[in-house]
Amino acid sequence: MSPLEVARDASEDARSICLREYGSAPKVNIYGDPNFTFPYVPTHLHLMVFELVKNSLRAVEERFVDSDKVPPPVRIIVADGLEDVTIKISDEGGGIPRSGLPKIFTYLYSTARNPLDEHSDLDTIDLATVSTLAGYGYGLPISRLYARYFGGDLQIISMEGYGMLQYLSPLFS
Ligand SMILES: Nc1ncnc2c1ncn2[C@@H]1O[C@H](COP(=O)(O)OP(=O)(O)OP(=O)(O)O)[C@@H](O)[C@H]1O
Ligand SMILES: [Mg+2]
Repeated sequence: MSPLEVARDASEDARSICLREYGSAPKVNIYGDPNFTFPYVPTHLHLMVFELVKNSLRAVEERFVDSDKVPPPVRIIVADGLEDVTIKISDEGGGIPRSGLPKIFTYLYSTARNPLDEHSDLDTIDLATVSTLAGYGYGLPISRLYARYFGGDLQIISMEGYGMLQYLSPLFS
């Protein structure tokens, strides 16, 4: 599979949810060799990139909502080394304080409103078909679980006041 192609699809999926909820969506710029392919499960990579990009888009939207500046793009870099494939997703959404880092990999931890409260007019069946940008609090723990399944890892470095660096590093081993 081509990681660049999967990253592009996942980013577009995330952007369309962002567009629906905020009325706008930051750009996602993807860098890397479009012809590079390697053996991996496309749906796994799609889920991880989708979750990380959704988080980045939300952070950037929330930070620039009252600003007249153009929101800075989310950047994805696909690095194809001889041994390791690494994907870095970074944003300028302000990051979080270091003290908050232990919480973000906890299931059900979210700083967004719970979509179940938000859409209390919908019943559970309808809710299953509504995708939201954030609010369930399992995007990060599930993504890390997926990454680790094939011997990879998900690492997150926060630069409070600037943004987040999210590494799928290595993607597999
Ligand atoms: N790139 C980011 N910038 C700033 N904060 C972030 C970023 N990514 C995650 N967070 C914080 O970590 C929390 C947990 O993220 P996680 O993806 O697990 O859940 P969620 O986005 O709230 O809900 P969902 O399960 O729907 O993705 C978020 O609510 C947010 O506060
Ligand atoms: Mg999320």
